[in-house]
Amino acid sequence: MEATDLTKRYGSIMAVDHISFRVEHGEFFGFLGPNGAGKTTTIRMLTGVIKPDFGTAHIMGYDIRKESLRAKQVLGILPEMANAYVDLTAWQNLMFQSELYGVSKKAREKRAVELLRKLGLYDRKDQAVKGFSKGMKQRLLLCMALVNDPRILVLDEPTTGLDVQSARLIREMLQHLARTGVTIFLTTHNMEEASQLCDRVAIINNGRIAAVDRPEKLRAATKELESIEIAFDRPIEIGSLSGLSNVIDAKKMGDKIRLYTTDPDDLIHQIVGYAKARELKIVALNVLAPSLEDIFIKLTEGK
Ligand SMILES: Nc1ncnc2c1ncn2[C@@H]1O[C@H](COP(=O)(O)OP(=O)(O)OP(=O)(O)O)[C@@H](O)[C@H]1O
Ligand SMILES: [Mg+2]
Repeated sequence: MEATDLTKRYGSIMAVDHISFRVEHGEFFGFLGPNGAGKTTTIRMLTGVIKPDFGTAHIMGYDIRKESLRAKQVLGILPEMANAYVDLTAWQNLMFQSELYGVSKKAREKRAVELLRKLGLYDRKDQAVKGFSKGMKQRLLLCMALVNDPRILVLDEPTTGLDVQSARLIREMLQHLARTGVTIFLTTHNMEEASQLCDRVAIINNGRIAAVDRPEKLRAATKELESIEIAFDRPIEIGSLSGLSNVIDAKKMGDKIRLYTTDPDDLIHQIVGYAKARELKIVALNVLAPSLEDIFIKLTEGK
């Protein structure tokens, strides 16, 4: 799958701004970005829901502008908004989706049983979807995305807002599919999830891609964006913290102090010593992972 200069504008908002990327066959590719970054808009263009203003993409060689039907046939799609019929049962939804993709009756029943079992929904297959929890719905949507045995699976934040159990079932299924050679394009705003699952990750913000790399590389590049936020029971002179090692930068944020560091664990020990020596009480202490915005800014600095 390859996107070239994909662009979409909504009025004055450049939702997706000339982005290009390439996903290899069998690759697990992550599209990581904060709210409003342009993830869903990109997916909508890739899957033929909306037309790009400029640029195009090829899905298994099919141009999404000229051969959108063929492109759609090789895709499995788990969209941002649920596309199941809530008055129908899980089973009926799967049969309906299979018919849309032209899967034969025999094949669709066998496949539906298999998918429902794998995603822990078989016992609930005859229940109307409106009685499903969010996690169950999302698992059903994944089943629906897989009825046509797609070569490429495109998922828009499949685990957002789910409990640990449902999220884990979905991630395991994705890992299983990746091992069997399915190409996966996943959007997420969860850095952990991206690094756990993906072979490569693109970081997107304001419709632009900042970097595409292996997750561990991106992690290394953002190491010095970790910080500790502390508050003591009385105000302190920020300069008095300059004796601590491993502090890259110190900032006052209201009644709290933010210390940027490459080694949060070591710094916490030092802070405890610092507070003891001055008879200060620590009233708050948080280790903060870098936000995606921070990472994006860091990666685009000087570009
Ligand atoms: N149909 C639309 N009409 C107008 N503006 C839109 C439309 N769809 C998206 N946008 C705007 O385009 C930008 C990108 O939105 P998009 O939904 O692609 O972001 P996202 O990365 O999927 O965010 P989220 O993580 O919140 O789902 C946003 O500023 C959004 O407001
Ligand atoms: Mg979205």
